[in-house]
Amino acid sequence: MRVLGLESSCDETAAAVVEDGVRALSDVVASQHEIHARYGGVVPELASRAHILNVVPVVQAALDRAGTTLDAIDGIAVTNAPGLVGALLVGLQTAKAIAWVTGKPLVGVHHLEGHLTAIYLEPDPPPLPHLALIVSGGHTSLVRVNDHADVVELGATRDDAAGEAFDKGAKLLGLGYPGGVVIDRLAKTGDPAAVAFPKAMTAGSTHADFSFSGLKTALLHHVRAHGVPEGQALSDLCASYQAAIVEVLVRKTRRLARRERVAHVQVCGGVAANSALRAALTAAGVEDEFRVYAPTPARCTDNAAMIAAAGYHRLARGERSDLALDAVPSAPLPRRA
Ligand code: KG4
Ligand code: ZN
Repeated sequence: MRVLGLESSCDETAAAVVEDGVRALSDVVASQHEIHARYGGVVPELASRAHILNVVPVVQAALDRAGTTLDAIDGIAVTNAPGLVGALLVGLQTAKAIAWVTGKPLVGVHHLEGHLTAIYLEPDPPPLPHLALIVSGGHTSLVRVNDHADVVELGATRDDAAGEAFDKGAKLLGLGYPGGVVIDRLAKTGDPAAVAFPKAMTAGSTHADFSFSGLKTALLHHVRAHGVPEGQALSDLCASYQAAIVEVLVRKTRRLARRERVAHVQVCGGVAANSALRAALTAAGVEDEFRVYAPTPARCTDNAAMIAAAGYHRLARGERSDLALDAVPSAPLPRRA
């Protein structure tokens, strides 16, 4: 089954063709980072407008690179929740128009379900059930994946997402947007023990929720007191800030892997591209005897191959969305009581 996927929930316009939920025949991403960089974050209205300009060429490129046409597509999957509503609507209306014109089945996909499914495009995906740490610009969640259609959230951030902590930290340090990748790079030559940052909700805490807003405030106080450093001191500050984020994420993931008695843990979403997080989680897995899986970095950040893969499972179960499918800006995952 060949599924055309569309993704436009934030600042990437993406389309991909995926076969049987596991083989990406094409995977096209038009990033808007340059448009938003000068503002230090995504400007929703500018995102919507850029999606409108990009979406048709991106879909055409995805079909061309897959060597296929709409006639040979078996279904269309589109992110309809959660995200920036104006941005979501562009992909959604395009997908609906394609479905209507071609008569092919349409299915709406939750963006986080997409992130969770990116790992199935890799050669050796985790078995079910497994634990997943979803870390993106908008979300930080630990979820138990029982099945493709059965995902339960065990913990989530109470304020900023991990990616937001990276982006806001980078903005404060004048490093541009998106900040995660810049901090990741600078931290490679820095000392993670140079500056002590708070590790919220870890000491003695047993619950699975996260909080990252205090960390951002601590960085703000540090910068107010000492200014924005340069050279080695900047690398040290980035490494210390990153280490605080990574330590909290890894501690909570270890605790839940033990509690849930899972031997397989995946990490996904944009921050899963972070080299320190991947290394720390892998090391924790060696100690605690769970295996760690992460998509290739390009499939951690937003893409449409993951949406097509998630849509494949829904379509294969016989699920269909009709043309009344709406964009939903906020759509929490089901949470275990
Ligand atoms: O999943 P994603 O592409 O979009 C959302 O669903 O939000 O995640 C984007 C986030 C941004 O906050 C970005 O700074 C972060 O992922 N990110 C990283 C890295 N690459 C992207 N954070 C840390 N290290 C990276 N290498
Ligand atoms: Zn995402």
